[in-house]
Amino acid sequence: MATPEQQVEAREAKNPEAFRYEVDGGVAVITFDEPGEPVNTLSPEVGEQFERLLDRAQRDDGVKAVVFISGKKDCFVAGAKIDFLQSIHSASEAASVSRSAQAGFNRLDAFPKPVVAAIHGACLGGGLEWALACDFRIATDSPKTQLGLPEVQLGLIPGAGGTQRLPRLIGAQAALDLILTGKSLKPNKARRLGVVDEVVPAPILLEVAKARARALAGGTLVLPRRRGLDFGPVAQSRNWAALVRSLAQREVWTELALEENPVGRKVLFDQAKKQLLKKTRGKYPAPEKALEAIRIGLEQGMDQGLDAEARLFGELVVSDVSRRLVELFFATTALKKENGTSDPNVRPRPVHKVGIVGGGLMGAGIAFVTAQRVGVPVRIKEQDDAGVGRALKQIWGLFDERVKRRSLNARERDRRGSLVTATTGDTGFKHADVVIEAVFEDLALKHRVLREIEAVTRPDAIFASNTSSLPIAKIAEASKHPETVIGMHYFSPVQKMPLLEIVTHPKTADWVIATCVELGRRQGKTVIVVNDGPGFYTTRILAPYLNEAAYLLAEGADIVDLDKALVDFGFPVGPITLLDEVGIDVGEKVAKILHEAFGERLAPPPALERVSADGRLGRKNHRGFYLYEQRRTKKARPVDPTVYDLLPHGRDRKKLDRAEMVERCTLQFVNEAIRCLGEGILRSPRDGDVGAIFGLGFPPFLGGPFRYADAIGPARLLARLEHYQQKLGRRFEPAPALREYVQRGARFHQA
Ligand code: NAI
Repeated sequence: MATPEQQVEAREAKNPEAFRYEVDGGVAVITFDEPGEPVNTLSPEVGEQFERLLDRAQRDDGVKAVVFISGKKDCFVAGAKIDFLQSIHSASEAASVSRSAQAGFNRLDAFPKPVVAAIHGACLGGGLEWALACDFRIATDSPKTQLGLPEVQLGLIPGAGGTQRLPRLIGAQAALDLILTGKSLKPNKARRLGVVDEVVPAPILLEVAKARARALAGGTLVLPRRRGLDFGPVAQSRNWAALVRSLAQREVWTELALEENPVGRKVLFDQAKKQLLKKTRGKYPAPEKALEAIRIGLEQGMDQGLDAEARLFGELVVSDVSRRLVELFFATTALKKENGTSDPNVRPRPVHKVGIVGGGLMGAGIAFVTAQRVGVPVRIKEQDDAGVGRALKQIWGLFDERVKRRSLNARERDRRGSLVTATTGDTGFKHADVVIEAVFEDLALKHRVLREIEAVTRPDAIFASNTSSLPIAKIAEASKHPETVIGMHYFSPVQKMPLLEIVTHPKTADWVIATCVELGRRQGKTVIVVNDGPGFYTTRILAPYLNEAAYLLAEGADIVDLDKALVDFGFPVGPITLLDEVGIDVGEKVAKILHEAFGERLAPPPALERVSADGRLGRKNHRGFYLYEQRRTKKARPVDPTVYDLLPHGRDRKKLDRAEMVERCTLQFVNEAIRCLGEGILRSPRDGDVGAIFGLGFPPFLGGPFRYADAIGPARLLARLEHYQQKLGRRFEPAPALREYVQRGARFHQA
């Protein structure tokens, strides 16, 4: 049997010291720097080591105060170790992990000497909870510094006291806004809200922190009054509970009147819950549980609040929703490290200049994200002066919007905006490293554009097409060097949609793939790489889903009913609204391409033809399934009743079974995704899940079509498809790959 000392030694050998400890002029500086890790994360081992250093600082009479800082380049603490959470199998085990983290931070909160957190870089989740338990927080003014509690984005709640300390520090209303959305703050906003006490330039962070620590210990600096409600044993145990309140702080109290009195607080929480449910539709339990923990803490005190926090955190860690969101997080993290090829040694080539042909809706959006995020010159080619004017207007509009939202200042807008120039000729393309084509969806036109561009660019310039359905190999047929031709399929609106689907054809060179993956990532996109084929992956799975919705309409479904059923399932908008948004003409064009490629299985219902023949393009010409002429009010947009005159059953709509409508549409989506996997269009179920969620809005809490297929069970999925195949015909023919999985008894994702 090992002695307790030996046990500690053995643990330490396995977990080398994550902290450095130095004393300078009465201040113990504890530097967190996990060996061999790019960022610091919180885990029970790290917590234990930190406690031992606190003990040391407490015992040492020469130490009057403590500064807690990170040794990493741009990270204070990125959060809790998430893979560790994944290894937990019961709610009670997870709750006890939360309780020990809480106990550690309670001890820090009650530490008899002042502790200053010196924050540079990411201070997120457990990292911010750690800082919140310190007495004074200083952040650097660097754009790398961000503070927040993003746990709800992983289906969790802060589990180390965050739901209790943040409302006490900045007030319930502001804390709810941060915790329920998981958004993070830039340093100045964090100071305005009171999350940090001071913001300084990075080079003087440590010096200022030490000076503040000494001043707090010497009583020459008085702790700022916290804005939230301060009660409960932890808060009361601090040495400086009786600090002088300034006049300014009284104003804060008036602001807080609402949340201070029980009736006001009830209104606040009821409102927050109502708004929350509107957004989550009850599909995401984490924000609701965060709300509950905060409410209990404010009503019953810190102890009860912490207890609720640990209990609810425990329940969430083992919930399906959190598991799916955590898997999704891991999937996107893994994607960020890949170069898009099977050879990790392939390096992207530098991109110093980007050319764009076609500055319409998509081209202008691509130009914007390139100038704004990549910061390299962008040259646009349009077909006439009017096109040039439209493109520039759209791009400057997007920059102005950023200035209005204060995420960019006017100087930066001018600097980045002037990176974009536009022309009707070919000048300016000679030095482009990548040219992205976003002209109309027409193969002959794309061939013409490709030839014109190749005539003026270097032979190693990349030609990327933003086509949404044409096979890249077909586009590359017109090229003198097809290895430089690739698909970069962005989603609309480009500045908002997170996915970029990169499409390779058999001749695309690896360095071309790696260069485009890197460019996409720098444009802020989550990038998946798929193989070529009509509609690639995303368009191809969307088509049968929208087709099925159109079949349901032809069978007499009510438009609102159908849309609502799929929104209740978890899609951000219903399929008919989506058709209006994408453009009914665009939908029809793509449906035709896919029908030709895949035959009867993807035949659109004839009913849809009458709708588009009626000149209904959707939102863009204000004529579609819904009415656009009326002024937008908060109420849902009404259906245009005249559209029913073009559909079978006319205005006499039937009440179709909602569960069946949902099942039919989602089965089409999932079955086609499995076909794409079987045919090698998709490289992995992981990429299929990420693509469907980030590109098409498949419900994230279900983890994507492949996770969803696993949850239903491949055998049951097959049985349901066979059921509908018998009832409705070939379009429900199960994917051959699904039969294989069922025969092998395999799942798409291994446990
Ligand atoms: P759009 O009609 O808004 O823009 C096309 C632009 O290309 C127009 O401004 C037009 O003046 C310009 N253009 C046409 N011929 C040209 C030429 N020879 N030289 C220079 N400019 C020329 O179309 P949108 O929506 O931007 O689509 C462009 C491409 O992106 C299409 O291939 C489309 O399939 C694809 N796409 C569209 C998405 C969408 O949601 N709208 C999503 C993903 C891809």
